[in-house]
Amino acid sequence: MPDAVETIPIRLKVNGKSHSLTVEPRLLLVELLREHLDLTGTHVGCDTTYCGACTVLINGAAVKSCTVFAVQADGAEILTVEGLETDGQLHPIQRAFAECYGLQCGYCTPGLMLATHQLLARNKRPDEKAIRKAIAGNTCRCTGYQNIIKAIQAAARNMDGVQQRSSV
Ligand code: FES
Ligand code: FES
Repeated sequence: MPDAVETIPIRLKVNGKSHSLTVEPRLLLVELLREHLDLTGTHVGCDTTYCGACTVLINGAAVKSCTVFAVQADGAEILTVEGLETDGQLHPIQRAFAECYGLQCGYCTPGLMLATHQLLARNKRPDEKAIRKAIAGNTCRCTGYQNIIKAIQAAARNMDGVQQRSSV
């Protein structure tokens, strides 16, 4: 008889919701999100840390979730694309991508939006060079980079405006 597969208990918060799970050490974070939590907005493009389709935020940092074991996220707070909207209202980043046609097939879009989230948390008014650097790990196979950059610039304006209004 084969040996029983070892499993490890983990706790993590995803999009504000706490989860306690028991997982195999080899389970990838992207597999946990997609197959155990049904959060299929996080995509798998390459499985080799290249494309960025699987990007999520772990404790605010953009990470390729095909590169992280689920057990490494024990105790972490994770944000996926499903967690961007609030009460049915799109996040300013999501609105900007829609309004600026920052997507074609949309496969890369969730990862790009999370990379944008990290960028704008660190730099409220990024110039084009900073934007290109921030999304260097996210490949768009439809090559719609011009509109993606316009979308990130629009998101920065939207979010800066919201912050300025709320601080008045
Ligand atoms: S699926 Fe993770 S980087 Fe491509
Ligand atoms: S919109 Fe198709 S891969 Fe980016």
